[in-house]
This record gives sequence, structure tokens and C-alpha cells, in this order.
Amino acid sequence: MSELDEIPADGAGLRRAFASFPSGVVGVCADLGGTPYGLAVSTFVPVSLDPPLVSFCVQNSSTTWPRLSEASHLGLSLLGTGQQDAARSLAARSGDRFAGLTLRHGAGHAVFVEGASAWLEGTIETQVPAGDHQVVILRVHRLATRADVDPLVFHGSRFRRLHVEELPTAV
Ligand SMILES: Cc1cc2nc3c(=O)[nH]c(=O)nc-3n(C[C@H](O)[C@H](O)[C@H](O)COP(=O)(O)O)c2cc1C
Repeated sequence: MSELDEIPADGAGLRRAFASFPSGVVGVCADLGGTPYGLAVSTFVPVSLDPPLVSFCVQNSSTTWPRLSEASHLGLSLLGTGQQDAARSLAARSGDRFAGLTLRHGAGHAVFVEGASAWLEGTIETQVPAGDHQVVILRVHRLATRADVDPLVFHGSRFRRLHVEELPTAV
């Protein structure tokens, strides 16, 4: 395969290939009965403008998703540069995922993490089983963005800061 190294399409190979694709990190959070639940996802994808839909993928083994999926509304926080501790915390396997985070309540059960570059509030439109994950499609009802906060980037299994360099060719 010319200068590319062919690697097996197994778990380790797929993780390596997926790690070469940069993404953002999104907190998916809700408050159910006074207890916040949340996880960090790097699988967020904008889907549709009309109707307004976004998606993210959740592992079938997730113990948090069954709780989040009961929420009337979910809060998606597109984490900003400098929020790598929040990303780690929201993905923690043990301890309080919300320790040190400032939360803002939205409609219904939705909660948002302060300091994010954008907030999306939505309701689950549908869930599609896809291998060891579920593709969750969310209908967006409200949005807020902060122009002064750059996104946190997840790439090569590391958190990175965006270093913006405009290329000469416009989109
Ligand atoms: C950078 C990063 C990205 C992640 N992306 C996803 C994801 O897209 N989907 C997912 O189900 N879990 C993802 N996780 C794992 C969850 O954040 C979390 O660790 C996991 O859901 C914890 O298990 P629980 O759901 O049983 O509480 C990611 C973790 C990190 C650190």
C-alpha cells in the first residue's frame, strides 16, 4: 500500500486508524432527580440542518447511558481548549465525574458544563444499534455558542489545542 503501512482491521488496528482522525470532545449530561449523569464522547457528528439533528455513538456496555437515555432533554457541551480536565473527569471510571465542574441547568433534565465552546440542548430522536455501539440521533431545540472559546481537540489518543493556520484555498 505505497507509503502507508497496512495493519489488521482488528480492534487495535481500528483504534490506531480512528486515532488519526481528529475530533472534538463533547460532554453529554443530564440531571435526574438532583443527581448529574454524564459521559465524554469523541464521536459527535453534525447530521442535518433541517430538521436539526446531531449524532454521537455510545458503547453498548455503558452503564451511564441507560440513565441518560431516560432524560427528557440532554445537554451537549462542546468542550473548549483548556477543558481537558473536564473531559477526563466526565470519562472517569470512578469518583465524582462533576467534581470541580460548574454546571448550568437547561430545559427539562439537560445540564451543561460551563466554559464550553457551544451548548446544544436536544431530545433523543432515535437510537440505531451499530455493532458494539448505539448511534444516538438527537434533535436540537436550543443552541448557544461562544466565539471566544476554541474547541478542545482529541487526536492521536491525546488532547490537543487548535493551532489555526488558514490555508490559501477557500472552502
Ligand atoms: C476522549 C474520550 C472520548 C470518548 N468517547 C466516547 C464515545 O464516543 N462513546 C462512548 O460510549 N464512550 C466514550 N468515551 C468513554 C466515556 O466517556 C466513559 O468513560 C464511559 O462511558 C464510562 O463508562 P460508563 O458509561 O459505564 O459510565 C470516551 C472517553 C474519552 C476520554
